[in-house]
Amino acid sequence: MDKPKVVLGVSGGIAAYKACELLRRLTESGHDVRVVPTASALHFVGAATWSALSGNPVSTEVWDDVHEVPHVRIGQHADLVVVAPATADILAKAAHGLADDLLTNTLLTARCPVVFAPAMHTEMWEHPATQENVATLRRHGAIVIEPAVGRLTGVDTGKGRLPDPTEIYAICRRVLSRGITEPDLKGRHVVVSAGGTREPLDPVRFLGNRSSGKQGYALARTAAARGARVTLIAANTGLPDPAGVDVVQVGTAVQLREAVLKAAPDADAVVMAAAVADFRPQTYAAGKIKKKDGQDPEPIVLVRNPDILAEISAERARPGQVIVGFAAETDDVLANGRTKLERKGCDLLVVNEVGERKTFGSEENEAVVLGADGTETPVSHGPKEHLAETVWDLVAERLG
Ligand SMILES: Cc1cc2nc3c(=O)[nH]c(=O)nc-3n(C[C@H](O)[C@H](O)[C@H](O)COP(=O)(O)O)c2cc1C
Repeated sequence: MDKPKVVLGVSGGIAAYKACELLRRLTESGHDVRVVPTASALHFVGAATWSALSGNPVSTEVWDDVHEVPHVRIGQHADLVVVAPATADILAKAAHGLADDLLTNTLLTARCPVVFAPAMHTEMWEHPATQENVATLRRHGAIVIEPAVGRLTGVDTGKGRLPDPTEIYAICRRVLSRGITEPDLKGRHVVVSAGGTREPLDPVRFLGNRSSGKQGYALARTAAARGARVTLIAANTGLPDPAGVDVVQVGTAVQLREAVLKAAPDADAVVMAAAVADFRPQTYAAGKIKKKDGQDPEPIVLVRNPDILAEISAERARPGQVIVGFAAETDDVLANGRTKLERKGCDLLVVNEVGERKTFGSEENEAVVLGADGTETPVSHGPKEHLAETVWDLVAERLG
């Protein structure tokens, strides 16, 4: 059997050296890799390295070996194109169909899956122009991996780091083995809740929780990357809206319930990643509660909040709708998770262990996804996007 043909596009970012590791993994696992660097990429790693490691010729321009028409052939014959690192510049060019070197021509002629692994400074990544370009590429069917958070060039840290080559390699393998030519959630509408509800006591105080919303945002971003129309119901996150996602802001559990019930009738899947308060203060003081000299404070009487997950699981808004819950547990994690899954009646429950320094606010997560059909899918420690991808894999399986 012919080896799968992979084009490794390398653009001019400081992380170009990490693409050598990706190249090595691809060639050692039996892929025929043709490296197509941009001229800028060669400032970071020379053509000799790419050629020696891949065993294939390397050019950046359309003018080499013209008799073989490489500007068309390379893309046409590829089973996968992966661009790592993808600069802000290459994302812009690819989004707008520019074709001024061999890599951009290849991106226009490829009909196989295309994966971009962006890497750049946080400011460049967050710039609306880059975000628009990412949304355009995703709309065109490309898979754009979210950059990792961490040390960037120089002393800076933030979002924009190239994901670990092993992670990019795993995504390439998954895309190749599934032969995804269409994003698998295309045509689906998914609703994701994120963040933590706040239950007001008075105009300045509330009962809340430590949920940052990052896991829910990772779910929203990855679903959008896989082609879904996404409604993200965000409770008190303060995070920037993900590209290409409809965001509904809510504050309390009651507001979150209203927003979920409004969006759910049209949804193929509802993923309840938000931490919803079980209780709220019975009364709301219109003015700030004052301490009174010599008097103990009034006790706070709590009443139950609606159980949104149980409600939408019991009364499915659509037949075949897949409902996913999250359980944050501090002990007896799996046993408590299984009980919760049965009590709530959802299809999947993501169970993770939380604590003051665990999960909440962190960029990483580790969990087990329990299925109502008895399945258990462990997800090892890694970026929240990893867990999100696994959740969507399981949802997509159930949607059929
Ligand atoms: C030291 C250095 C590091 C750079 N790192 C990045 C980077 O990580 N991401 C990025 O988008 N641009 C980076 N740039 C800017 C790009 O090299 C520049 O936009 C170039 O035009 C990209 O060309 P290309 O997309 O054709 O490879 C860097 C430039 C220099 C000089």
